[in-house]
Amino acid sequence: MRTPRILTFAGSIRTGSYSAALAALAAKELSSLDCEPVLISLADYPLPIYDADHEASEGVPAPAMQLRDQLASADGVFIVTPEYNAGVPPLLKNAIDWASRAKGQGDPFTKPVFAIGCTSPGALGGYRASMMLRQVLALGLNGLVLAEQAMVAGAGNAFAEDGGLKDERAQQRLRTLMTTLIEQAALRAGLRA
Ligand SMILES: Cc1cc2nc3c(=O)[nH]c(=O)nc-3n(C[C@H](O)[C@H](O)[C@H](O)COP(=O)(O)O)c2cc1C
Repeated sequence: MRTPRILTFAGSIRTGSYSAALAALAAKELSSLDCEPVLISLADYPLPIYDADHEASEGVPAPAMQLRDQLASADGVFIVTPEYNAGVPPLLKNAIDWASRAKGQGDPFTKPVFAIGCTSPGALGGYRASMMLRQVLALGLNGLVLAEQAMVAGAGNAFAEDGGLKDERAQQRLRTLMTTLIEQAALRAGLRA
């Protein structure tokens, strides 16, 4: 039987992004667990700001279709959000909005199980953005979002040279979250009894 496919991405394409670092670390953890990890960057899915007139005249852009298909073919999805003004940054919200407009096989938001990560240089670690992302995924898109989440505060000093987290307990919590995501994704996809 196949293993669950777990998609991971960050809501930042900034050089040196802490969210991208956390997403990459999660993908590394996933690669040692019983799943098929897929790490993507939103830089490979360039999209205009959503505009209904654009959609009406030109349809949904190809990158939105591709992102939608990545989500729909995943059994689990781990999204790491940065925090902009206590919310989800426009890059991530725009990508989700466009993907929600694309039609295709499978449902990109109700099929996979979602887990949320957040990080910021501040003391709250992007917690407020994580709540907004939870609202978008669960209330807006009817997605199943795990209660557990990964939060890394003080991001400027949280990552070691090798990309791991300096705080061993935080590293263990991330690993536990990835294990839970795999288990729940496998159950939902009928890959495990
Ligand atoms: C427009 C803007 C608003 C921000 N607002 C917040 C905020 O509300 N809370 C916070 O912790 N950090 C805030 N920051 C700082 C970001 O957390 C920081 O730039 C972070 O490195 C962005 O994530 P990234 O490293 O993944 O690109 C803000 C940054 C920008 C550019």
